[in-house]
Amino acid sequence: MNAGIRAVTRVGIHKGFSMFGIERGYEGIINEDIHPLLHRDVARIINRGGTMLRTARFPAFKDPAVQEQAYAILKDYGIDGLVILGGDGSMAGAKALTALGLPTITVPCTIDNDMAGTQLTIGFDSAVNTILNCVSRIRDTSDAHERVAVIEVMGRNSGRLALEAGLACGAEVVLIPEYEVSLTSVCNHLNETHKHGKWYSLILVAEGAYNGHEVSEFIKKHTYLETSVTVLGYVQRGGAPTAVDANLGTVLGAYAMECFANGQYNGVVGYIDGRTQFTPYSQLSNHGKVISKDMYELVSILSS
Ligand code: F6P
Repeated sequence: MNAGIRAVTRVGIHKGFSMFGIERGYEGIINEDIHPLLHRDVARIINRGGTMLRTARFPAFKDPAVQEQAYAILKDYGIDGLVILGGDGSMAGAKALTALGLPTITVPCTIDNDMAGTQLTIGFDSAVNTILNCVSRIRDTSDAHERVAVIEVMGRNSGRLALEAGLACGAEVVLIPEYEVSLTSVCNHLNETHKHGKWYSLILVAEGAYNGHEVSEFIKKHTYLETSVTVLGYVQRGGAPTAVDANLGTVLGAYAMECFANGQYNGVVGYIDGRTQFTPYSQLSNHGKVISKDMYELVSILSS
């Protein structure tokens, strides 16, 4: 996200805009935590995880009266447009401000990669790589002790993190909410592969499908295999971004300001089929966000 903030600020200044940063998202508008952003204010952040502007969950922003208050505050500050870096909740807020008459552009940021208007969200690639890094360490113990390693990853209602990390690390089983699999069939599969010489196994569980501890207990109870469980949690959301993410933040941030300069707003800037693309909020669809069954089935083809 910091790469995005840097690019929005510097490209905005380059194009002649006066740039402001708002601390803690929508909460910061209401608290009037708004300050100018100059070129050097966004120095030394491109390689840092998180966001220099910080963030906050702000459920009160669902209230139309609070949205109107925010709109009035932004107008008082002379703010003519807003670039919002965030996930679906942030985009819902952006749409509300747009409906009140404020031009907005959303830059899609979430490790879940579940947003419409882009094939890739900022943060996803870094999270997948962090998961791979952790799995390679867990694999060593799993291999040495001949255990089934159950690894729970984030993703909210989406299985993308689990699936892409699972494919990349050669997991035996990936459990995601999009394609339901019974734990009994997982146990049968593990018993079968164990019989054929597979001494250890990796199971990636998306938090939206199952709880990792539940899966581990079930396997323990219904097979003769030993298990271990790791819930990766917030390690997935921190650390330096990968090159893919730093460049995605940079390119989409810059493109957001290009769109504003060209009078194109009230939509999402995304990365689709290898290029940047602007999609108006009114034309967003989840087409392209569906996880392909072929990709999902590849996990079991490769592991059996
Ligand atoms: O949406 C991003 C995400 O990291 C999800 O993968 C996860 O379920 C959720 O946020 C955690 O949210 P919080 O920071 O509120 O615990």
